[in-house]
Amino acid sequence: MEKQPVIQIKNLTKIYRDFWGRKKVRALNSLSLEVKKGEVFGLLGPNGSGKTTTMKLLLGLLFPTEGEINVLGKPASDVSKNEWIGYLPEESYLYRFLNAEETLDFYGRLFDMSAQQRKERANQLIEKVGLQNARKRQLKEYSKGMTRRIGLAQALINDPDLVLLDEPTSGLDPLGSRDMKDLIVKLRDEGKSVVMCSHLLADVQDVCDRIAILYAGELKELGSVEDLLKEQHETELLTSKLSPEAVIDIEAVLAKHNAKLLRHGHPTNSLEDLFLKTVQKSQERPGQRYVPTGSEKT
Ligand SMILES: Nc1ncnc2c1ncn2[C@@H]1O[C@H](COP(=O)(O)OP(=O)(O)OP(=O)(O)O)[C@@H](O)[C@H]1O
Ligand SMILES: [Mg+2]
Repeated sequence: MEKQPVIQIKNLTKIYRDFWGRKKVRALNSLSLEVKKGEVFGLLGPNGSGKTTTMKLLLGLLFPTEGEINVLGKPASDVSKNEWIGYLPEESYLYRFLNAEETLDFYGRLFDMSAQQRKERANQLIEKVGLQNARKRQLKEYSKGMTRRIGLAQALINDPDLVLLDEPTSGLDPLGSRDMKDLIVKLRDEGKSVVMCSHLLADVQDVCDRIAILYAGELKELGSVEDLLKEQHETELLTSKLSPEAVIDIEAVLAKHNAKLLRHGHPTNSLEDLFLKTVQKSQERPGQRYVPTGSEKT
């Protein structure tokens, strides 16, 4: 069954005006797309392509020049729907002199939660984003990664149905961004819908079910990550190690089927895999170092 949309955008255009009302920048041009319930949707595009503008329009923080936006069944301009939305902005706007617990308590108050609820929720979220050891430290002492984590915890304080994440992995090291991506997948498993924007393509590829690519405010591509990336005219096989004779035999079989062996060799891991494995090993065996053997390729 087709899942119902949590976001419907139709022919959305946003023109920023200057102080005198003169048209300045066409940030979005006739954008139409839908985000379904329970999916992780990625908005991709280079700097200035309109990603943050789209998020702000969804929240009703900006008004569209033209077009229609419905979020969770309500017009985007109806800010009461924001009660069920969590938002992680591009830049952190949290109070630098509060610690993690105080920050979450402050945002819990905005949602009218009782003291008991606020405490429980803050504890849960601090654990969820892995800030247990920093819960009493002021945010001004936080590293970039820690700031992103408390930002996510803040966005989840109201247990939202829809989470909007503007560059959730920006400034994070591979370990931090892996954690962030795992958290995003967890949110989907809990049945939440997530829209994230990013220009870190690997991050989007790892977690998004569907993506939209924006360029200069226009939709250039839309679809499932799998379909968009699938090379329809090639087939990939992964086998255990083959001898040169076996490769010759396989080529003969392929020739019988009018196909050619385009490439063979050992598959390589991504640099991210290598980095994560190295860090994991270092945690398991502290003190062990890499000693150059002199046979490394230069
Ligand atoms: N308040 C504003 N006033 C005027 N122009 C703006 C304003 N905010 C954004 N713009 C312009 O709108 C366009 C889209 O900006 P937006 O911030 O949505 O891009 P983005 O895709 O989020 O980029 P980035 O990857 O750099 O975050 C840009 O040309 C930008 O200069
Ligand atoms: Mg942006």
